Amino acid sequence: MAFRTRITELLGIELPILCGGLMWLADARYVAAVVRAGAMGFITARTFPDPGAFRAELQLARELTGGRPFGVNLHLSARPEENTLIEGHIAILLEAGVRIVETSGVPPKAILPPLKEAGATVVHKVSAVRHAVSAERLGVDAVAVVGAECGGHPGLHLIGTIVQAPRAAQAVGLPLAIGGGIGHGSQLAALLAMGADAAVIGTRLLVAEEIWGHPDYKARVAAADETMTRLVMQSFRNTYRAMDTEAARQVEALEKAGEVDFEAYRPLVAGTNQKRAYQTGDVEGAILSLGQAACFAERIEPAAAILHQLMAEAEAARRRLDGLAVETADV
Ligand SMILES: Cc1cc2nc3c(=O)[nH]c(=O)nc-3n(C[C@H](O)[C@H](O)[C@H](O)COP(=O)(O)O)c2cc1C
Repeated sequence: MAFRTRITELLGIELPILCGGLMWLADARYVAAVVRAGAMGFITARTFPDPGAFRAELQLARELTGGRPFGVNLHLSARPEENTLIEGHIAILLEAGVRIVETSGVPPKAILPPLKEAGATVVHKVSAVRHAVSAERLGVDAVAVVGAECGGHPGLHLIGTIVQAPRAAQAVGLPLAIGGGIGHGSQLAALLAMGADAAVIGTRLLVAEEIWGHPDYKARVAAADETMTRLVMQSFRNTYRAMDTEAARQVEALEKAGEVDFEAYRPLVAGTNQKRAYQTGDVEGAILSLGQAACFAERIEPAAAILHQLMAEAEAARRRLDGLAVETADV
């Protein structure tokens, strides 16, 4: 059983599932695994600041996917000094033949022209419906809207996916992906029923065998239930949903105490802490993006098995609805 939607058609994929960018983790091996299973994945460019390493990763993905199209994630920061690598990343990905890009962060106005001129398909990911409407006006090809449950950046308003999905479908005319808390196929079926064309998934796939992170890190994700995430950095208007670690609790305590100097937070939120945690499995000192859908990730298994399970559950949900439907006499 498959679902054909505007997103599966746009990206030429079999499953209505976008496996969103994952800082440090979404590399060639992971992306190739989800692409081979019929979904779309995005190599996260910021993970490869060295141009040679980025080029090599794209080449590896090309080999591992057997020539199937795959995507790249480009994150645009609100701070221009953090975007210095993007131009180079775009040149490299286009040269490597990549034509599917997931953008996130601030509106991709500056980078749309080179991408569109090269014929790339751009999916812009946002955390609020009004930003999706703006992105549609900018000329992206599809939008993804993530709700409060998501790992990473749920935005400022923290609107849950159950409200945001149908609201986005009402407001946006473009092909639409919805994410935030999706880890069971019944939710995927519900999203499609609510007008979405695909789900965006991050957290549920963190336990994929092809994710290079340390087995202790993945075991921690597998053990987490829906209560084991925390919202941090809200006071800086840069909210993260992260794993409940010692570092996350310390950040929370600083924010509750009213600390406004970023320097007090810097040692706790450094990206290098994340990389070390993924390498060593010792997670306590890092702020690690994690969504509430961690509750659906119960064991380490191949990405393809996770995706197939989601599809089987979606199909079961569809059948359940069919079975519940009753004919009513016209009144
Ligand atoms: C560990 C982790 C790292 C992430 N890194 C990025 C990133 O670098 N760029 C990005 O656009 N989104 C990133 N995200 C967000 C995901 O691409 C996706 O939008 C989100 O995980 C969907 O919500 P879910 O976690 O509830 O599935 C990250 C998410 C996680 C869990």
